[in-house]
Amino acid sequence: MRIDILTVVPQLLDSPFSASIMQRAQDKKHVQIFVHNIRDYSTAKHKNVDDYQYGGGAGMVMSIEPIASCIDKLTSERTYDQIIFMTPDGEMLDQKTCNSLSLYKNILILCGHYKGIDERIREHYITKEISIGSYVLSGGELAAAVVVDAIVRLIPGVLNDESSALSDSFQDNLLSPPVYTRPPEFKGWRVPDILLSGNTKAIEQWREEKAFERTKERRPDLLND
Ligand code: ADE
Repeated sequence: MRIDILTVVPQLLDSPFSASIMQRAQDKKHVQIFVHNIRDYSTAKHKNVDDYQYGGGAGMVMSIEPIASCIDKLTSERTYDQIIFMTPDGEMLDQKTCNSLSLYKNILILCGHYKGIDERIREHYITKEISIGSYVLSGGELAAAVVVDAIVRLIPGVLNDESSALSDSFQDNLLSPPVYTRPPEFKGWRVPDILLSGNTKAIEQWREEKAFERTKERRPDLLND
């Protein structure tokens, strides 16, 4: 998979992909991530990428030209399955969307900044708009990092044990059951006996019950889906 991210603050995307699972996924060539600085595509004298909004009002708007020129260059080189804009008024990200995005070959993600982007970019280039929650971030970069992390870990081979992505919370619309590791007792707090029993069938059943209980208690909406 290839992911191109367009931003005016590329530094914000330095660390999320340079450690742990994301770095390993790139080392193992499961994914290539390219971060493009929109400013490099500005033809303005001072490399401006924003301007005052028509009609007046506070806040600058990201200009159409540098974004269009960056997208035009990338799309002339390959076909993108989706051109995504990160925005709080997009469709809410969930596991189902992550699963389907993880199957694509090439995706492009545009991060917004300032007051927003010229609407014509959304109308003529963007094929999907994603929000990571009902709150406003300073820009789309951290949201893009969330999307990339959530989809890259689903690419076969990225996680050592493929089944560990399948047993994540939200796959099957269930939250994960509680997990424990050594020691079996700490400050008098004991690990449930069943997990120490060696009875794999009973353990599996216990986990299913706990996953259901937890979902019913914390996210009953998932059970109605
Ligand atoms: N940009 C700013 N806030 C955002 C959000 N909640 N989701 C996606 N992109 C954003």
